[in-house]
Amino acid sequence: MSGKKERFGSRTAVIMAMAGSAIGLGNIWRFPYMVGEHGGAAFIVMYLLATLLLSLPVFITEVTIGRRSRKGAFSAMSELHPGHSIWEFVGLLAVIVPLLINSYYCVIGGWSLDFLLRSCAASFVRMSPSEVTSVFSQMSSSRWEPVVMHLSFMGISTFIVAHGVKAGIEKFSKISIPALFFLIIVMIFYSVTLPGASEGLKYLVKPDFSQVNGETMAYALGQSFYSLSLGMGAIITYGSYVHKEEDIVVSGAGTAVFDLTFAILAGFAIMPAVFAAGIEPGAGPGLIFQSVPYIFSSMGEEVPVISAAVSFIFFLAIVVAAMTSCISLIEVGVTFLGEKFNLSRKKSCCLLFVLCGGLGIVCSLQPSVFDSLDWFCSNVMLLVLAFCFVVFAGFVMKKEDVREEITNAGAKPLNVRLFNVIYFQIKWIAPIAIAVILVTNFIL
Ligand code: PFF
Repeated sequence: MSGKKERFGSRTAVIMAMAGSAIGLGNIWRFPYMVGEHGGAAFIVMYLLATLLLSLPVFITEVTIGRRSRKGAFSAMSELHPGHSIWEFVGLLAVIVPLLINSYYCVIGGWSLDFLLRSCAASFVRMSPSEVTSVFSQMSSSRWEPVVMHLSFMGISTFIVAHGVKAGIEKFSKISIPALFFLIIVMIFYSVTLPGASEGLKYLVKPDFSQVNGETMAYALGQSFYSLSLGMGAIITYGSYVHKEEDIVVSGAGTAVFDLTFAILAGFAIMPAVFAAGIEPGAGPGLIFQSVPYIFSSMGEEVPVISAAVSFIFFLAIVVAAMTSCISLIEVGVTFLGEKFNLSRKKSCCLLFVLCGGLGIVCSLQPSVFDSLDWFCSNVMLLVLAFCFVVFAGFVMKKEDVREEITNAGAKPLNVRLFNVIYFQIKWIAPIAIAVILVTNFIL
């Protein structure tokens, strides 16, 4: 079963690689606008609960399936339970969904690239909020600009996957992710001192639970899965590289804490600026592109060059964070085409570029297609696939095998003590909660 397989060298390497896939546009672009569309602080509370109670067990499950099978998303479950085509079908969905996500993910990657180029020209210095908002609306409503940027972003990412030069970009992301972290903290200081920012802070810290309904819970869970790259086989694939000695629970908790912190900090950097600029918090996918440049514009009042430099580094770091996530999305498809159809890496990349690029053009030109695809993937398919994974670990795999992976065959005393709780979450709490959220919101 195990064969000769590349492994991650250390716990830090595991957490960094998984955090690299997890941290991306989901934290910086998607989280703030989800918070804005679904009730502010109450959504954040739901998101925290979803991550601790449901995403963590799903994360542990995916790493368990990957490490036990030593296979990628498509074949992992059929390797552990051969001869049952249903698990092959689930594996196939776990390949298709990331490719659908990749199509519109690269559209946002393209917007970030566009704003990076504008930062090079110091475009945001001393702009008023309405000028900032109109930059985004002009860019996104132009017919060719977002399409060219989307194809450029996807082209660079696919080129990196095709030429196996991921190591370079991964090294780069080791610098750019901490830089982004640092910049977000700097931006929080600027953002909260903007006139009118206090309303944004209140919005983030004062939950109004009357706003919470079943739909909010579904969106919070979908966001948590999306952000941790769950429910689409990416973590199963990473799990297949995790060393036998590694502690799955600690790696999962480490990644989740990292990812949560990043998203919440992004919320605190962006929401006060949204209120200060008088933008509607439920403005949708354009939210960060309409609000963040306003922070840079106010930074530039005294020393314009600082504002231009910070906005350049910020968008560069976002483009790199998005690229590391995008690369892991493309890689799922490349591994599948290689395993199943023996297609070379380069041919697979060309095919995926045409398919995802084409669908991305439609998303770029038709906001309704973009919204429907994001809704369908994040709030329906991720939940359906996560449900299948926990059912597989809870009911198809032998309990002893799951125990062996989670406790490292008894070598991790804390995990031995926690095992029954974790297993109960995997076998009962997670499937029932995910099914109830799915059925009540989207099927009934
Ligand atoms: N988790 C990434 C983000 O938050 O931007 C998105 C993502 C990347 C999802 C890679 C899935 C994946 F395989």
